[in-house]
Amino acid sequence: WKTLDDIDLKGKTVLLRVDINVPMEGGVVTDATRIEKIVPTVKDVLAKGGKPVLLAHFDRPKGKVVPEMSLGHVRGAVEAALGCKVVFGADCVGDVAAAAIASAGPGDVVLLENTRFQPGEEKNDVELAKAMAALGDVFVNDAFSAAHRAHASTEGLAHLLPAAAGRLMEAELKALEAALGNPVRPVVAVVGGAKVSTKLDLLGNLVGKVDHLVIGGGMANTFLVAQGVEVGKSLAERDMAATALDILAKAKAAGCVIHLPVDVVVAREFKAGAANETVAAGDCPADAMILDAGLATVAELTKVFEGAKTLIWNGPLGAFEIEPFNAATNAAARAAAGLTKAGKLVSVAGGGDTVAALNQAGAAEDFTFISTAGGAFLEWMEGKELPGVAALHQA
Ligand code: 3PG
Repeated sequence: WKTLDDIDLKGKTVLLRVDINVPMEGGVVTDATRIEKIVPTVKDVLAKGGKPVLLAHFDRPKGKVVPEMSLGHVRGAVEAALGCKVVFGADCVGDVAAAAIASAGPGDVVLLENTRFQPGEEKNDVELAKAMAALGDVFVNDAFSAAHRAHASTEGLAHLLPAAAGRLMEAELKALEAALGNPVRPVVAVVGGAKVSTKLDLLGNLVGKVDHLVIGGGMANTFLVAQGVEVGKSLAERDMAATALDILAKAKAAGCVIHLPVDVVVAREFKAGAANETVAAGDCPADAMILDAGLATVAELTKVFEGAKTLIWNGPLGAFEIEPFNAATNAAARAAAGLTKAGKLVSVAGGGDTVAALNQAGAAEDFTFISTAGGAFLEWMEGKELPGVAALHQA
């Protein structure tokens, strides 16, 4: 794929697909990370003499105009992050969009309305893609986190105009390549979260690629149950036991060492501050549930991290959203961050919950790379081809 260094932007109107699908509460952006991450690309387009026209989706309006999901609500936040004028166009195609683009002066940025207000967006309708393409000269895709969607503004457009990856897309693809595509070994993957059933493809792909696989969170309980270990009232998918055993067998055949909790923190209630104790993994009382991994497990993971050169992390190790059941996630995250800071580990993490957990642990800034992607990061870890990235390869 091409980058901004490979295409001529001077005097060009640049259709720039970004992901500014940020969390909002009461009309206020509560986490502007995704907006901040587009700044280098937008500034680069401006510096190279192009006029940036931002195309983006917001939420899931399903092809209808839903006023609460208008990108007009984030215009101010985009303007604040970029530090330049942002002209809003109340449609992403047609005369309204063209007029907004024409009205923008040198140094201004244009933000067009939610692409998902168009019924053709999610259908990857070629007529919609053509209507978008008619507005500009070049297509730049900087929305790695929306690249798992084959939509008109993420996939279709790349076939209609000269296309390149933006700086964030470039950084995401390079980081992921370093973590799993062609990593320095040994590689350790940490996969946590509630359910095995939502991460089957991911586990199946990872056991063939990494040297150590750490399974945490509710998912670990399913693996314990599969091995005949009782977990009391813990969250566990008992009907997935056979699948879990298959994954363990596949890992063994591939030489991938699986790490399950050796000790666990158990409580009788799922609430912050609930009375709890740490027991060996096989000793969860029948009326209790596992809410976190214990200190012995963290010590083991730290050793695994120390012996590794590359770490890829998705999903918390316990019920990190309620204290004190965030302790294992926090401690393991800090251990990984410390090794990264010391230059001993390349660490890459992604997924909404994961980033929240690493931020909470104060570990995120020392990781080598934190992806802005949720679903796209998972699909990429599953070994799937992302349509938005594939289209850039073909372009
Ligand atoms: C995300 O938030 O992960 C991306 O913006 C994609 O959103 P979607 O899951 O609604 O396609």
